[in-house]
Amino acid sequence: MLHRYSRLWLPVLILAVFLGGCEPDAKAPKPSTPKPTAASPVEAETARFLEKHWARPLAPQGKLPAAAQGISLAPQSCAGCHASQFKDWSKSRHSRAMGPGILGQLQEMPAHARDDHQSCIRCHAPLAEQADSLVAALEKQANKQAGGKPEIRPLHQQGLVCAACHVRNNEWHGPPRRNGSQPGGDLSAYPHAGWKANRAFESSQFCAACHQFKGDEYALNGKLLENTYKEWQDSRYARQGVSCQSCHMPDRRHLWRGIHDPEMVKKGVGVRAGAASIANGQVAARLSVANTGVGHYFPTYVTPKILIRGFQQDASGHKLDGTEQQFVIGRQVTLDLSTEIADTRIAPDAEATFDYRMPRHVRATSLMWQAEVQPDAFYLEFYVSLLQGEMKAGSRQLIAQARDNAGASPYIVFSRRLALP
Ligand code: HEC
Ligand code: HEC
Ligand code: HEC
Ligand code: HEC
Ligand code: HEC
Repeated sequence: MLHRYSRLWLPVLILAVFLGGCEPDAKAPKPSTPKPTAASPVEAETARFLEKHWARPLAPQGKLPAAAQGISLAPQSCAGCHASQFKDWSKSRHSRAMGPGILGQLQEMPAHARDDHQSCIRCHAPLAEQADSLVAALEKQANKQAGGKPEIRPLHQQGLVCAACHVRNNEWHGPPRRNGSQPGGDLSAYPHAGWKANRAFESSQFCAACHQFKGDEYALNGKLLENTYKEWQDSRYARQGVSCQSCHMPDRRHLWRGIHDPEMVKKGVGVRAGAASIANGQVAARLSVANTGVGHYFPTYVTPKILIRGFQQDASGHKLDGTEQQFVIGRQVTLDLSTEIADTRIAPDAEATFDYRMPRHVRATSLMWQAEVQPDAFYLEFYVSLLQGEMKAGSRQLIAQARDNAGASPYIVFSRRLALP
């Protein structure tokens, strides 16, 4: 057992501290919590609602009332009536929040270590019924990623399901109707007996429950490891009333596109390449990357990385050896999360510049700039290191799958060829 603790559990526990935030960092200054300070009555009501709504571990729903007419907590049971939300959600990362990377790690935990499970599933699959489903699957060692039909997956494998955001104590909650009207008449005549409208669903604070650490949670180099809400709050978007939902759920669509989506990234970032020049046999060129439309740092987490490359090419477009220079945009940390190596993320409305300076290759005719987004850079390294340790066969298979997925996610978001004078 101890052996396993040292080989595999260590990174898992570190990750739990990282994301679950069990261990306050005494040295770090205490950044403010996501709660609004000078709260207006609406903000105060929102904060009150959300504190209860996201009090985890969530309470079991209990028995569904007759008015629910056989609707279950599974997303498929909402699909018949809310087809568009279901379709968007199914393609979002929220529906895949229990992928092989997290399942493989949970699989290594004892079946009844509910507190340990919570340190992950409170964000990835938060319903009490999902916690039970996970325990049952761990008892049977039956956590294989069911390929094919998602509807046959047990509830915990379905990730951040509709009910996790919308259903508490068997009551449905949602934003007010778009036109502000109230559902009239006999509410018990509505499917799932109507719903309770609350503006909290339109507030960025709704997302902070999982996308922002509290002030006493894990920080590195004086900065919380998850700080998205605070970054947004300090930006002009907060002052202009542009919420997380405005960008990530446009027209209330359940898309949640982010760093894995090239179109989303292109919308948020402006890249400019200045002309290349040559002086004293040196090629010089500048690339500017501006955060023009990301409502927080680009990128916000420690897990992605943007790799910028500049290199010289010959007349037939081949890369010339020894001419490449690389630059990184990201918050780079060591795998054990003990040290921040560098933080070159770009704040909202800020710009970073990268200067290429290399001797001109005799056959060079052009300079090439490329920006590659690696959405899962940290996880890729993490899985490779996990696989070097000891693991149950089932977990190993899942983690290997996660490693392959993470290795396949990078894409080129920008490239530009500049003729050399
Ligand atoms: C039999 C059809 C049906 C099923 C199944 C169903 N709903 Fe609904 N839902 C409705 C109707 C009808 C309304 C009321 C819309 C209105 O009057 O504006 C509604 C309202 C809602 C609202 C509030 C919409 C708003 O404007 O804020 C939410 C959120 C919601 N449902 C979520 C769910 C979820 C989650 C599930 C599955 C667990 C589900 N529903 C299953 C029919 C259904
Ligand atoms: C119950 C916790 C929870 C809540 C609430 C939540 N999220 Fe998430 N979100 C997650 C988790 C977990 C992931 C990672 C899923 C994965 O890739 O495994 C995620 C992923 C995302 C991503 C995708 C990032 C990428 O890698 O491309 C975006 C964007 C996002 N969330 C935005 C939001 C917004 C906006 C809200 C508020 C409307 C919100 N989330 C509310 C837990 C949550
Ligand atoms: C505070 C909320 C929160 C907690 C707690 C949490 N996560 Fe996550 N997790 C996220 C968010 C948000 C993302 C997406 C952003 C990112 O990649 O960092 C994510 C992404 C991931 C990913 C990569 C995406 C994927 O599905 O492959 C893995 C793996 C993961 N988490 C595992 C874990 C494990 C294991 C634990 C428990 C030790 C845990 N998480 C606890 C919020 C959380
Ligand atoms: C991460 C939390 C989250 C998940 C998961 C989620 N929703 Fe929502 N949903 C929201 C938020 C937040 C809004 C309000 C968005 C806004 O006001 O901009 C919303 C709005 C809605 C509405 C009202 C839409 C409208 O046009 O007025 C319906 C209906 C709904 N959701 C159903 C669902 C269904 C069905 C699922 C699963 C397939 C689901 N939701 C999954 C957070 C979530
Ligand atoms: C002005 C538009 C805008 C607003 C407001 C905004 N985002 Fe984003 N977000 C983006 C864009 C564009 C990306 C893709 C680039 C990136 O990953 O930084 C993104 C990426 C993300 C990601 C992917 C992970 C990562 O490391 O970047 C998450 C998670 C996320 N946003 C959550 C949120 C949450 C939570 C809020 C509110 C507190 C929010 N966003 C507010 C535009 C926005």
